[in-house]
Amino acid sequence: MSRASLNKDPREVAGMFDTVARRYDLTNDVMSGFQVRAWRAVTRAAVGAGPGMKVLDLAAGTGTSANDYALAGAQVVACDFSIGMMQEGKRRYPELQFVAGDATALPFADDAFDVVTISYGLRNVNDTLAALRQMYRVTKPGGRIVIAEFSTPTTPVVRESYKWFLGHVMPPAARVFSSNVESYDYLAESILSWPNQEALAQLMLAAGWRQVAYKNLSGGIVALHQAVKPSA
Ligand SMILES: C[S@@+](CC[C@H](N)C(=O)[O-])C[C@H]1O[C@@H](n2cnc3c(N)ncnc32)[C@H](O)[C@@H]1O
Repeated sequence: MSRASLNKDPREVAGMFDTVARRYDLTNDVMSGFQVRAWRAVTRAAVGAGPGMKVLDLAAGTGTSANDYALAGAQVVACDFSIGMMQEGKRRYPELQFVAGDATALPFADDAFDVVTISYGLRNVNDTLAALRQMYRVTKPGGRIVIAEFSTPTTPVVRESYKWFLGHVMPPAARVFSSNVESYDYLAESILSWPNQEALAQLMLAAGWRQVAYKNLSGGIVALHQAVKPSA
């Protein structure tokens, strides 16, 4: 199976990422015009990883962000359900700890992490609320969640240009750079059907998170959501 349908069957999604693992980061750079690096820098600042912190990077893929958190001195677990993505990550970052796991049934104890973060992963999970609840469960009271995800551009002109990009620029570019062209059809469709900034904030509240806030990056093409697990 090369393209995951939008019912996001976990086996199909994992299988799709297995097939793109080797060129995943290169394709990300090219497709985003290298903006993904700036988005990662903002996410890194929000996570604020440092010595003495335990960080879970969920849907960590090839470990690109997780490795940055480890370099900042945190104890990092990179968790994903695509063995292909994690193998590629282990090849690049042999010191990084990868753990196989599904976001909807995390293999970690309650209250284990200071920060739980997920970049461009939540959109691919078939039950968003279940994943947000699992992330809540494994976060220490007083700990934080940081979510980077594609979102809804805030102005009509950016929104329409972005839709045009997803429909007309990304498919031919994917034919050149990606090892799985169909996965970029899935990417476009999954972005367009994903809840907007406010709707995701509401889901986070429903999962128990508090002090939910978000900021738009690149005019809302990406949104960075943050929240806290209450101490009491
Ligand atoms: C677009 S990649 C993002 C990878 C990485 N976080 C990054 O910033 O480059 C999405 C990742 O989410 C993972 N994923 C999707 N659904 C998942 C789930 N239910 N549980 C664990 N990982 C999942 C995929 O295997 C894939 O590696």
